[in-house]
Amino acid sequence: MKAFVKQITPPFLLELGKRLLRGSPKPVDERLSSSDIVLTNKWFAGNKENWEIIISDLNPTKILEIGSYEGASACFLIERLAGKSDIELHCVDTWEGGIEHQAGGEYSVNMNSVESRFKHNTGLAIQSAPHKVSLVVHKCYSDVALVKLLADGEQGTFDFIYVDGSHQAPDVLLDAVLSFKLLRVGGVLAFDDYLWMEGLPGQCDPLRCPKPAIDAFININTRKLKILRAPLQQFYVVKLSD
Ligand SMILES: C[S@@+](CC[C@H](N)C(=O)[O-])C[C@H]1O[C@@H](n2cnc3c(N)ncnc32)[C@H](O)[C@@H]1O
Repeated sequence: MKAFVKQITPPFLLELGKRLLRGSPKPVDERLSSSDIVLTNKWFAGNKENWEIIISDLNPTKILEIGSYEGASACFLIERLAGKSDIELHCVDTWEGGIEHQAGGEYSVNMNSVESRFKHNTGLAIQSAPHKVSLVVHKCYSDVALVKLLADGEQGTFDFIYVDGSHQAPDVLLDAVLSFKLLRVGGVLAFDDYLWMEGLPGQCDPLRCPKPAIDAFININTRKLKILRAPLQQFYVVKLSD
């Protein structure tokens, strides 16, 4: 299947898109119980079915995640992928929170506790993983981390990149452009919260959400990527060329 993904045949993409829309028929196997991993929200829970399908076809071993929070998506990746082979997982987060996490924001929270939970949760997931997990934590702004990875020669080396950091349109656009450079041909770029908007009093600010940035990125790169048909809460594209 991996060779298939590398060739990026349209039938494979069509089939993957169809399966994403249908959802996974198998129940999700939870290796770690809720008492092991401490999560205070269910933001990631709804994405698991689609991710099961994508990662089982792609089998990524080198992954980059922008926005880790308390580690829900990172732990899912460790559990699923390090059961099969060694993996390298890069997690980028300031652990300062986005605008929505600041005092007075919609999801106001103590980010020091969030970071402690990330360490606790990923530590547990790594401990129970049968294969080696090289976890590289970049505690900084995503633009700094991604530019540094490019400067270190990591262009085109990642199999799967998850963009779930800042939800402000200018930041999302920068994350998308830099991530696309880091992604290998045949790799998958996943965007969270395509239709998310802050619950601001009065009208919503169209620049304080990911959609305009994801749309602009997709339109500009339309000849270099393939959109996977999936429910719109997340947006998945396959890189076709540099
Ligand atoms: C929605 S949360 C990530 C959720 C996580 N992927 C999960 O599955 O639970 C967004 C995270 O992005 C981080 N963040 C926001 N803006 C950032 C930026 N410009 N650079 C790096 N991290 C950022 C925040 O600190 C926060 O922890």
